[in-house]
Amino acid sequence: MAAAASYSIQPTSRIVNQPQPKSALNSRSLSFASQFQTFSLNVALLLISLSIFRVDRCVQLHPQKASALVRAEMSSEVDVSLSPRVNSVKLSKTVAITDQATALVQAGVPVIRLAAGEPDFNTPIPIAEAGINAIREGFTRYTPNAGTLELRTAICHKLKEENGISYTPDQILVSNGAKQSILQAVLAVIIPALFWVSYPEMARLAGANPVILPTSISENFLLDPKVLESSLTEKSRLLILCSPSNPTGSVYPRKLLEQIAEIVAKHPRLLVMSDEIYEHIIYAPATHTCFASLPGMWDRTLTVNGFSKAFAMSGWRLGYLAGPKNFVSACGKIQSQSTSGASSISQKAAVAALGLGYAGGEAVADMVKAFRERRDVLVKSFGELDGVKISEPQGAFYLFLDFSSYYGSEVDGFSVINGSEALCRYLLDKAQGALVPGDAFGDDTCIRISYAESLSTLQEAVERIKSALVALKPAVAV
Ligand SMILES: Cc1ncc(COP(=O)(O)O)c(C=O)c1O
Repeated sequence: MAAAASYSIQPTSRIVNQPQPKSALNSRSLSFASQFQTFSLNVALLLISLSIFRVDRCVQLHPQKASALVRAEMSSEVDVSLSPRVNSVKLSKTVAITDQATALVQAGVPVIRLAAGEPDFNTPIPIAEAGINAIREGFTRYTPNAGTLELRTAICHKLKEENGISYTPDQILVSNGAKQSILQAVLAVIIPALFWVSYPEMARLAGANPVILPTSISENFLLDPKVLESSLTEKSRLLILCSPSNPTGSVYPRKLLEQIAEIVAKHPRLLVMSDEIYEHIIYAPATHTCFASLPGMWDRTLTVNGFSKAFAMSGWRLGYLAGPKNFVSACGKIQSQSTSGASSISQKAAVAALGLGYAGGEAVADMVKAFRERRDVLVKSFGELDGVKISEPQGAFYLFLDFSSYYGSEVDGFSVINGSEALCRYLLDKAQGALVPGDAFGDDTCIRISYAESLSTLQEAVERIKSALVALKPAVAV
């Protein structure tokens, strides 16, 4: 699946030389009015229009904040009010559920954790050793804000060889994970459904309005170019694409990306952020297409990638952005005022990861083979279950299953199972399986199952889920 977003760290006019009329900027800054917001049962695409939000102004104008300050002044109470911007952001559901499942396991409950988005494999030995050597050799100090030249050069080489796009090291920004890369890049966004859980919240943090566009399981959750075209306005700033997709595992075929690129090309203000963190976890015959490599897209695309998934390096916290220099420098400015450069040790390890060969060589191919086997087993097992709709994932390590035919049931001790959140609560209780409700990704009909677990654990989880579902007869035939 993919998600796209456009962004900008700078005011729009500095990026595309298209200054906004003053009145438009003022009204956006005060009201955050979104152009439109479409929710559909099955999908979503978030369209975030540029919205310039001034915290200082908000603090002055926000009445609750003002009264909290008065109270604080009069009674010396601590002012505990928070900024409207942070209040508009939701906690990540994947993080919340994973933490809850971990707490249950620590309390002795045998919960199977299928909620987290991280490989169950250890970091391949040559990568881990490069990190250990970095410590032994005293490579433990600050590195340049943008990352070591060695790593940025290796990333340029990888992008040229594997993705067919050319960058120089000053067009690469290494960060503490792809998540940081994305946050730094997001200001105004369009996200085609289904979206990774953090995109809309990051857009809100950036003061932008996310707009969700519909996709459907029958179309493998792929964005219909016509829907994109009819949704774009002159305020649309960033299209976020994610292929292979979290949460659906869909992979955008090259032809579809070319159609999307043609539409993007008609909108001078529209930029693209292409999140390609799952590019190597892909199942033939599906193939990965790097969006920036499509005709005319290089100078308006920011490519995000990282080491957490394909190289099983989630704890090393390393990701990167590649794009035109003005955007990358703007992101670098933010990074210089927040985290500075990423871990020196992780950067040495990442150089070793990129040295494993094309697409991560044998080490990555072995992990992908295991993921594929698990996918096949799960698709078959869930396919045997009444009332479940499946779109077979072509990449990543998630299944996004439509369980909506089970909604409407009532079970002892539970209120009506009226959506994905209620179903996940029920399955956590009855099957002791931690899954993520689809509503966290913009689709309440589905739940996400991460198959980054051993085959035997997954088989056990499927049996438990099937038994728990017996009490919830599908309300509608599928
Ligand atoms: C689509 C997508 N992008 C980015 C990230 C963030 O990865 P990192 O661990 O590099 O911050 C994730 C992690 O789950 C993801 O699924």
